[in-house]
Amino acid sequence: MTEASQLFDAGERLDAAALRALQLERLQNTLRHAYDHVPFYRQAFDKAGLRPQDCRSLDDLARFPFTTKADLRANYPYGMFAVPRDRIRRIHASSGTTGRPTVVGYTENDLSLWADMVARAIRAAGGRPGDTIHVAYGYGLFTGGLGAHYGAERLGCTVVPASGGMTARQVQLIWDLEPRIIMITPSYMLTLLDEFERQGVDPRGTSLRIGIFGAEPWTEGMRQEIEERFGIDAVDIYGLSEVIGPGVAQECVETKDGLHIWEDHFCPEVVDPVTGEVLPEGAEGELVLTSLTKEAMPVIRYRTRDLTRLLPGTARVFRRMRKITGRSDDMVILRGVNLFPTQIEEIVLRTPGVAPHFQLRLTREGRLDALTVRVEARPGVTPEARREAARAVAAAVKDGIGVSVAVEIVEPESLERSVGKIRRIVDLRPR
Ligand code: DLL
Repeated sequence: MTEASQLFDAGERLDAAALRALQLERLQNTLRHAYDHVPFYRQAFDKAGLRPQDCRSLDDLARFPFTTKADLRANYPYGMFAVPRDRIRRIHASSGTTGRPTVVGYTENDLSLWADMVARAIRAAGGRPGDTIHVAYGYGLFTGGLGAHYGAERLGCTVVPASGGMTARQVQLIWDLEPRIIMITPSYMLTLLDEFERQGVDPRGTSLRIGIFGAEPWTEGMRQEIEERFGIDAVDIYGLSEVIGPGVAQECVETKDGLHIWEDHFCPEVVDPVTGEVLPEGAEGELVLTSLTKEAMPVIRYRTRDLTRLLPGTARVFRRMRKITGRSDDMVILRGVNLFPTQIEEIVLRTPGVAPHFQLRLTREGRLDALTVRVEARPGVTPEARREAARAVAAAVKDGIGVSVAVEIVEPESLERSVGKIRRIVDLRPR
């Protein structure tokens, strides 16, 4: 067997023309399935004057209506399901910080597809059958833990289902069980880093070689920090519960140039977040995803709110998406300037004297919003160096983003640590 036929599954070996043909066939089936079995889609298509058979090319998808988180909430809990309840094998739910959560369901085939997608992702990250994988994504209604778990098993790996939390024990498990791969949020990886140091264990001395990080935005600066501190390759995994969970797109370890979207099962578009117009390849906008093979809960043109751009494939035939800049919900508009936590992350990570732990505090002064960037000093840094770091961060924000912010350098280990998805913005503005 050639190298490619060992490393790539059938979907990854398609050529571009075969991939597009397969996508169209699957898209037509999905539109029909959604229209026939989900009243929400039937009404939405009818209202737009469209029938599933009006989709004759991939470009026709753009004529169909979007689906939003609000639509999922309005149909809570089971209204978006396209199969009878007795065919549902599992439920997950997204952490509804406000109002109702959104519930998603999987048939037997969906669970198998999901495991295949995550197995493919782990392989693209450099994982191989026989590897031991420490899974520190939370297990439960969140899709991270169980999604990673079954994908790792599908690939033929040994799984350590650590879940999130009990940080001291995580370090012990990594030391004793010698995993080659860790799957975890990047912010929780930083929490582990502190714990390694607290226990006097060298984070570069473990068996870990690969980290597969996702569930929240993270930057190239963070990649560099994690790779250097742990001596590993750090790659990005993307997904969302509404579409399936982790395993929609994955960065390949050999290129680390953005995430290849598993296009044989998920069809991406990037649209203007305001007008909804489809943008040309390479333009930054909101990612919209359509599932192509899901049974229990097909999603048509789901508005992810995640901002990125589509790029041609490199290590795989599939198109890539650039690392996510942020969610449109996390964008802070400060005196007319748009700002994302990832932009602050880049700045903090290249500033000497400060740790990669920061928080953005939004307040209102009179009629204007104000932002304070709170960053931890590295241990042992002098007061003068702290003042210099504060000046440097403020100047970089002013020069790079174009807005003035206050910067407060706080004591080491004083900011809240993540055990899963980190909350970067603390909004203290009066409602
Ligand atoms: O976070 C699924 C997941 C688990 C992905 C583990 C990767 C690893 P949700 O809880 O539904 O699902 O949240 C989905 O998280 O719309 C993005 O805003 C964000 N997100 C997920 N992966 C990334 C990533 C899981 N690699 C929401 N980069 C998505 C940036 C990400 N943001």
